[in-house]
Amino acid sequence: MLELKNITYNAPEEGIDKAILDDVSLTIPNGKLTVITGPNGGGKSTLAKIIAGVIRPDSGKIIFNGTDITDMSVTDRARMGIGFAFQQPVRFKGIKVFDLIRLARRTENLTTGDACKYLAAVGLCAKDYINREVNASLSGGELKRIEIATVLAKNSEMSVFDEPEAGIDLWSFQNLIEVFNAMRENIEGSSIVIISHQERILRIADEIVLIKGGKLSARGSADEIIPMLMGTDSVTNTCNIADIWKGGAKS
Ligand SMILES: Nc1ncnc2c1ncn2[C@@H]1O[C@H](COP(=O)(O)OP(=O)(O)O)[C@@H](O)[C@H]1O
Ligand SMILES: [Mg+2]
Repeated sequence: MLELKNITYNAPEEGIDKAILDDVSLTIPNGKLTVITGPNGGGKSTLAKIIAGVIRPDSGKIIFNGTDITDMSVTDRARMGIGFAFQQPVRFKGIKVFDLIRLARRTENLTTGDACKYLAAVGLCAKDYINREVNASLSGGELKRIEIATVLAKNSEMSVFDEPEAGIDLWSFQNLIEVFNAMRENIEGSSIVIISHQERILRIADEIVLIKGGKLSARGSADEIIPMLMGTDSVTNTCNIADIWKGGAKS
């Protein structure tokens, strides 16, 4: 179980500190798939980076299974069981895809067949990728999928995926949803956190957390939250783009 207690994070904007996250408190229980959603710029990736330890909050505490991990490094948190897939993954020159999966799996004895299983799960034809270097020759979508494969290989107690749908074609996305569903079926003592805008991912959530303007705006089951999202400001209260477009086309 992960507890975020009164998390605040500020970053400078035009020389003035702006609250990116403002007093966010949230418990992520084991045995559940939690989806964090909300408008772009709302603070979701910042929250994910705070969970993984990439950045530290200005105030507040992060407790993982009863231990205060607020000041722990990314590596220590990974060792404790937090696996993280970035929205924009990092390239590692000189490392092959196979090595990355072997490191994630934490074993010297990983067979190519085992490694390929994880690549196939994200819709990559394993034989084409397994010996590729994780460098600039990979497209953003390929890199993203390889990173998701490494998080699957880690099989952490808590797996966090930041917008796994980004850069993924429809076929692979369908595949990925099946992978998340399978993970969920075997979830028991672990937890999955997915940051996503995709309705199909929202639908498989045990709990949805809505982060908006740096604040926790709502949380509840998929049945409670999805109808709310369908009628959010961005859809109903802002200017009607379709009307403007029609108007523009006429004149
Ligand atoms: N290091 C930073 N410096 C300045 N602004 C930042 C920094 N990190 C994030 N932000 C801003 O914080 C807001 C939230 O960003 P982010 O967490 O990436 O949102 P989301 O993932 O919900 O789209 C955005 O307005 C973004 O520009
Ligand atoms: Mg983001």
